[in-house]
Amino acid sequence: MEKNGLKDFSKDEYDEFISLFSVSNAWHLIREMLSEIGTSFLDQGERLGFITLNLAKKQGYDIKTTRILVLSSLFHDIGKIWQSSSSNDKMISEFDFSTSYDRALSSYLFLKYFSPLKDFSAIVLFQHGRYDRPQKDAYYKYGVMINLCDHVDRWISMGFSPEEIISLINGGKGSYFAPKDCEDMIEILERTNLIEQVKSGAYKSTIDDYMTTIYFRRDLIRSYLLMVTYCIEFYNFETMYHARLSASMGYIFSKLTNLDLHTTCVIYTACLFGDIGKVRISHEILEKPGKLTKEETMIMMRHIEYSKEILSNVFNDKIVVEYAYSHHERLDGSGYPKHLKGDEINLPMRICAISDVIAAMIAGRSYKDAYSMDETIKALEEMVKENKIDKNLVQLYIDNREEIAAYLQRHQNRMFRNIKSLKAEREILKFSDVWER
Ligand SMILES: [Fe+2]
Repeated sequence: MEKNGLKDFSKDEYDEFISLFSVSNAWHLIREMLSEIGTSFLDQGERLGFITLNLAKKQGYDIKTTRILVLSSLFHDIGKIWQSSSSNDKMISEFDFSTSYDRALSSYLFLKYFSPLKDFSAIVLFQHGRYDRPQKDAYYKYGVMINLCDHVDRWISMGFSPEEIISLINGGKGSYFAPKDCEDMIEILERTNLIEQVKSGAYKSTIDDYMTTIYFRRDLIRSYLLMVTYCIEFYNFETMYHARLSASMGYIFSKLTNLDLHTTCVIYTACLFGDIGKVRISHEILEKPGKLTKEETMIMMRHIEYSKEILSNVFNDKIVVEYAYSHHERLDGSGYPKHLKGDEINLPMRICAISDVIAAMIAGRSYKDAYSMDETIKALEEMVKENKIDKNLVQLYIDNREEIAAYLQRHQNRMFRNIKSLKAEREILKFSDVWER
């Protein structure tokens, strides 16, 4: 253990973690996850992103601005995550998703506090802004531009002909939409087959190519991946913190057992995404207060297969998938899905298993309160007696418990700070009308 307590990721560890993902599989993971959560906003986001991409190119925006505009379009409705959330948290239940202002506000707040797009999140807040209103913010004009693209998408979906769409654009020119945006959009509609591409679904491969070839700063990939875990947590509050707590525990145990850099990062990743398959399990089962029936338990256990399926599509390094797949195995063979026993479960797998167990104990769940440190240790010792988990790892946890608790507390505080600021900003913005309608 280092003298000054457990450290956060070092630069080398960051790089190694990121190297597990290529840009393309990071994007595919985001895509896969968001569609798993069952919201359709990404489909619409991709159409909007495609139309925005065309307009941004036509207007000669530089690569960076184009990327920001496309990403803002892709995630313009990400606040919908909260709509499908089962949470009774006030922050969520107070959003009125039937009004476009509240929807834009929820997406803006999500992006600002839980994504790497925070500096540009205002674009999403202004996504329904009108051109003829006072433009108090530098990003307002981008919101107005996305507003036009959003209307074009809607008109295409409604089956309007190109001539009708052009006439509708002209109808809003100078009031709803910026004249230059209108002229460029009309030229695109007249000279390209944009409408056909939107209708036929061909836009999907254009956006896919764009997202897998644009240059992402490597550290941003991690932020996008964390954004995915936030999406899952907000989808299901009951697993709040679980993924990250489990990943932090995986990281801590890797350090305490002096594992090499690569293995440490593989374990961290496997713990972070090991329960990702839970997005396919119903809220009723995930959040059921009290014990699950036999049948429900069987359904719940399927999450491990779902995680494997999802992660196999994302990681080239199959070790990540294998470790994630093993986090419910127990030394006495009573675990699942493969009922591995003793030496069949290697150290990284043992770390994934105990990290998941500890994360579940120290965070509250629908069916139980969070365990105190003493209760956690008692329960772990019980599991050692039953030959379920590795006794050396439990001993390491006991020996370093103070430092581990301090490390986890630091991480948790950061998350709570974010939620507190988000709620404060929401209070200010919910009654103001930033679009000046
Ligand atoms: Fe699990």
